[in-house]
Amino acid sequence: MREEIIRRTEQFLREKLAPMEQYEDIGRRAMDYRIEHSLRVANIGREIALREGFDEEKCVVACILHDVGYAIKYTEREDFRNHGRYGAEIARPFLSELGYSELEVAEMCYGIAIHVDDKADFEGERTPLALTVGDADNIDRLDVYRLYENLHFKDYVNLSIKDQKAYCDKHLAGLTRLRAMEFGTVTATELWREKIDYRLGFIGKLNAQIENSSIDKLLR
Ligand SMILES: [Fe+2]
Ligand SMILES: [Fe+2]
Repeated sequence: MREEIIRRTEQFLREKLAPMEQYEDIGRRAMDYRIEHSLRVANIGREIALREGFDEEKCVVACILHDVGYAIKYTEREDFRNHGRYGAEIARPFLSELGYSELEVAEMCYGIAIHVDDKADFEGERTPLALTVGDADNIDRLDVYRLYENLHFKDYVNLSIKDQKAYCDKHLAGLTRLRAMEFGTVTATELWREKIDYRLGFIGKLNAQIENSSIDKLLR
């Protein structure tokens, strides 16, 4: 990978997302989170590209830019659904500027466009690289940082024991369903299952500990 290309891409993302800092309802941390998440997605994309044997740099660049569509302030739910397609539009001239060929730009943009709801507003091919953008995004969303975040936002420690248990049961059922999902590459499917299994283990242990926190278990 060329260091200059990676640095320029990260810089471009920062410039495009800078207005997020002004949005009163989301603020600075939301912008930082988006950048940090994009870089984590790029690291996952890199691992997939290396293990699957396709172009590492293009995959990393597309992953860094996958959420650049957040540069547009969303007011409607529809805008959020469109952020992949908006992102492809924003990324396209920049990717050409980096010197990528028309075909290369098309593949990267297609990956960015379909990463939210699997739909693009232009024709493209579902290559392993294009599919990896959304796959890496999903894998990051199931990793430990987001698990911590979920518990934090839920204010888990302040829930009643009954609600803590209900949260675990619901989460475990959802994870079991999600585990069956197939991804664009064997590596992505493996990474996904690895994250799911970690969560199943963690939430499973949490659930068991909660059961031990009431008298009911002793009376069984
Ligand atoms: Fe996204
Ligand atoms: Fe994302």
